[in-house]
Amino acid sequence: MKIAIIGVGYVGLPSGVGFAELGHEVVCVDKIEAKIQALNEGKLTLYENGLEELFQKNIKTGRLLFTTDTKMAVQDADVVLLAVGTPQDPKTNEADLRYIYQAAKELAPFVTKYCVIANKSTVPVGTAEAVESIIKEHNPMADFDVVSLPEFLREGFAISDFFNPDRIVVGTEAPRAREVLEQLYAPFKDKTEMLFVKRRSSEVIKYASNSFLAMKIHYINEMANFCENAGADINEVAKGIGLDSRIGKKFLNAGPGFGGGCFPKDTNAMAKMAEKFGARLSLIETTIAKNYQRKADMAQRVLNALSSPKGKIAILGLAFKGGTDDVRESPSMEILYQLLPVAAEISVYDPKALENAKQELGEKVSYAQDIYEACQDAEVVAILTEWEIFRNIDLERLKSVMKTPNIVDLRNMLNAQAAKAAGFSYSCIGLK
Ligand code: UGA
Repeated sequence: MKIAIIGVGYVGLPSGVGFAELGHEVVCVDKIEAKIQALNEGKLTLYENGLEELFQKNIKTGRLLFTTDTKMAVQDADVVLLAVGTPQDPKTNEADLRYIYQAAKELAPFVTKYCVIANKSTVPVGTAEAVESIIKEHNPMADFDVVSLPEFLREGFAISDFFNPDRIVVGTEAPRAREVLEQLYAPFKDKTEMLFVKRRSSEVIKYASNSFLAMKIHYINEMANFCENAGADINEVAKGIGLDSRIGKKFLNAGPGFGGGCFPKDTNAMAKMAEKFGARLSLIETTIAKNYQRKADMAQRVLNALSSPKGKIAILGLAFKGGTDDVRESPSMEILYQLLPVAAEISVYDPKALENAKQELGEKVSYAQDIYEACQDAEVVAILTEWEIFRNIDLERLKSVMKTPNIVDLRNMLNAQAAKAAGFSYSCIGLK
């Protein structure tokens, strides 16, 4: 099939590569010329585990093209996927839909044969209807259906999630659109449940899923606080409750709070949407508020570990989670901002996110090329992102470079006993 993807970001790019790998002809469109040029030269514009190999393979086949020309991508397409950003509006906390609406307006004139326009971006209830109206308004003759096609892939696991989705949700009641989508996802037929629902249900499923997961993280973080006071170990408690299949093992890692381009904005958008529809969601409202508080509390923990008020702090991990270079709404970055006015010096290291962090932080911190350089003469090292390499820190070497052997491990990466045995003052989450 011929697929056009509008928006080449953390969703559009891995999806484009994935559909090309499945044998579809994919044309990806973005407004940023430098991005398109880089991609056409075979240079990836974001880091995602496992993406490079498939990307290189598929540009060579000619099934994966990049352009700034919407017409070229849309005019022959059987399916147009909208994967543009829906950032949080800073004034209202709602999802800002301007890029979706703009994309709909721009593609409308080029819908010259029947096609399915699918919203992959996370959008509030009623957006599919709004996109449909915009296209009709700008091209009254167009033959098309707009469906909601929420994306559930995680950054860092985007490729494996693309090929092994838990479910494929399609919001449409149009038989023709259903047929096209069944064809698009034919390779998943025998291994993944494909759920056809009303468009509005599909739009809610996306927000309700992310909000539920965010609440689960908030729950385990609060439980971690409780374990610290009650003399229990959150790692043991999470394992014990997770073995109940109704609760599930996943998303029970206590940490510094959730971040990223999705949970913070989607929980806010969900809460706002609920308010508008007159059915407030108090659990989600609490989750949002407590997640802000969590980052302040975690910054305080790092400060408490400083022996002098103006000591050097080393930060390991800036990405909002391991496996990505994305620093959007990263708990590490937010904690770092709270430490900046207090610490004499902050040195940072991240295996993939240094460049993105630099764009935000500029000269405010020093950038190290490895763990030990970051920790040189530091009074405390804070582990803030769950990069696997942090598990294998050489504790003896770390101790030899630090001014005082102090670890604040907000991702529970290290073995507490081993760290203490190596002479560190060690604090982590949910265990005293
Ligand atoms: C999330 C969802 O997991 C995806 O299903 C969804 O498609 C995506 O948002 C989206 O809407 O586009 P993502 O933002 O990539 O994916 O990251 P997650 O793995 O969900 O992690 C989000 C945050 O929660 C991170 O800061 C992570 O460190 C934190 N987290 C996650 C925890 O603190 N504990 C956990 O047990 C799991």
